[in-house]
Amino acid sequence: MPNLSVFLPLLLLLLVATFAVTSAFVAVQLPQQHQRTTATSTCSTLWSSSAVYPQDEKAQTLLESSDFAIAPNDLIDLAKKVQYETQVGILDGGECLADDITFRAAVVEIEGKELYLQAVKTLNFTSFFDVNATVFGWHVDPVLPNRVYYNSHTTAVHSQKPFFGVQPKGKELVLPPQLYHMDFTPDGKVQEFGFYTVDRNYGNTGGLGGAYAYFYGLGRPLPYPECQPYRKSFRRRIFDGLIRLSQALPKRTKKEE
Ligand SMILES: *[C@@H]1O[C@H](CO)[C@@H](O)[C@H](O)[C@H]1NC(C)=O
Ligand SMILES: *[C@@H]1O[C@H](CO)[C@@H](O)[C@H](O)[C@H]1NC(C)=O
Repeated sequence: MPNLSVFLPLLLLLLVATFAVTSAFVAVQLPQQHQRTTATSTCSTLWSSSAVYPQDEKAQTLLESSDFAIAPNDLIDLAKKVQYETQVGILDGGECLADDITFRAAVVEIEGKELYLQAVKTLNFTSFFDVNATVFGWHVDPVLPNRVYYNSHTTAVHSQKPFFGVQPKGKELVLPPQLYHMDFTPDGKVQEFGFYTVDRNYGNTGGLGGAYAYFYGLGRPLPYPECQPYRKSFRRRIFDGLIRLSQALPKRTKKEE
């Protein structure tokens, strides 16, 4: 039987590393009015240090030395055009999309332009909801210089028409913030597009984003775990239980070899 104390530090490390992602509860967090902090009122040492970091310079150098056909700032402009003027291929019949585009979200993948366009036309939530998206944070990935990221905060009021048997009663869904990515081919077509939620404790859709937010948010989740809020797996709970048990056990002294 292996000596538990050998594995304990490792287990604890794992526990700490994964601690941040264990919550599965849902809470609506409304924006708050914040008083601005002045540079002198807090952390004065930090505030007064010069804000030039090698990490920033490294990222900047990578971006500047990128040999991708489209320069970073132009790529952001292009991504905004694709997002706002074509709604990612919807309004231009997919002209801005590569034929072999992949839609890649956390748990959904769609291959090819035809299937992608079919899916977004079928899942047209704006015909059921008043969707209000706040989009921000456009930037190019220094390591993947053909990729643009951007964030969104989205709310959706169910006001238009019945949604899978749910009458429109003005329920407001608050989605978690999401991080989008758009990869481009050298000739400026969208090669990959998708998004992930980045804070599943925010909002009232169980931490779910994209289409699942609407289904779950209105009480019509699709019948599989991916359309439910995150919850620890059975194996994970056993694992955590063992850790708690090992912590509760009195420490054994090391055996003489
Ligand atoms: C989605 O529905 C809205 C409102 O009914 C409509 O204006 C829009 O053209 C539709 N979009 C697609 C891609 O079908
Ligand atoms: C859209 O959301 C923003 C940010 O929450 C809010 O200020 C604005 O009033 C909303 N607009 C509509 C039409 O609901």
